Amino acid sequence: MQCNAYDLEHKVAIVTGASRGIGFATAELLLARGANVVISGRKQEALDSCLDRLSAYGKERVRAVMAHGGDENGIQRLVGTASDTFGHIDILVNNAATSAHYGKIMDAEISAWDKTFNVNVRGVFLLTKAVLKAGMEKTGGSIVNVVSVGGIMPVEGLSIYNVTKAALIHFTKQLALEIGPQGIRVNAVAPGLIKTKFAEVLWSNDESRDAYESSNPLRRIGEPQEIAEAIAFLSSPAASYVNGQVLTVDGGGGFLKGS
Ligand SMILES: NC(=O)c1ccc[n+]([C@@H]2O[C@H](COP(=O)([O-])OP(=O)(O)OC[C@H]3O[C@@H](n4cnc5c(N)ncnc54)[C@H](OP(=O)(O)O)[C@@H]3O)[C@@H](O)[C@H]2O)c1
Repeated sequence: MQCNAYDLEHKVAIVTGASRGIGFATAELLLARGANVVISGRKQEALDSCLDRLSAYGKERVRAVMAHGGDENGIQRLVGTASDTFGHIDILVNNAATSAHYGKIMDAEISAWDKTFNVNVRGVFLLTKAVLKAGMEKTGGSIVNVVSVGGIMPVEGLSIYNVTKAALIHFTKQLALEIGPQGIRVNAVAPGLIKTKFAEVLWSNDESRDAYESSNPLRRIGEPQEIAEAIAFLSSPAASYVNGQVLTVDGGGGFLKGS
């Protein structure tokens, strides 16, 4: 029996959208548990600052690659950096996402639909394919897709984004079925409202924050580290028989009602 099933020593992880928020918290926690980590984001300056902050874990254990979530060249650079630097990839955290429209779904332009699907679904498909092609099955492995409670239950306002997250939930289950026989597990984490820049418009507004907090059994919004813990669990041997699941981390309250 492994004495610490949460230990990630000798593992190599890619975490997308890791220059802040849930992605950064995840990268830091995976490093703390022993993994080597490659992070991505769209802005070099933000990534440089992350490298500085993460250097306490050993500069040689972290790399950063500037890559837009939907860009095929960026995806190839990301996978190439992980393989060339660390020799293999064991953990993929598909965390980067965008929301290009707020409002009713039928009021959206097709450009917003395409942009949101490009990053949240097409980009995840391409990166996952590239990681699998790089040989994840040699070491077993874990893929964790960051979805949303809005992908389980519709929420007003986040319309197209919620549809992409619902697609990603089904992608998770389909892929889990197909690549489980290779020893690779695929799961998703569905956060509720978390205090990050992405959701700032919701938690910085007194009315929507009060509505969320008063209907949430824990009476508060979540912190990025609380999502990182769920991702690290699913990435670890502690979750060795967990496959094709969506782990909801929302304090038990779903998302905003009618926001
Ligand atoms: N916060 C919440 O309440 C909440 C709830 C449910 C689900 N989620 C999910 O949690 C995940 C992380 O969100 P977060 O709340 O941590 O957001 P965040 O704090 O805004 O961080 C988003 C990260 O993704 C990067 N990013 C944004 N667009 C990108 C793109 N097109 N390509 C590559 N990287 C991109 C950002 O860096 P750059 O801007 O420099 O690229 C940043 O590092 C997302 O999948 C989101 O859907 C969040």
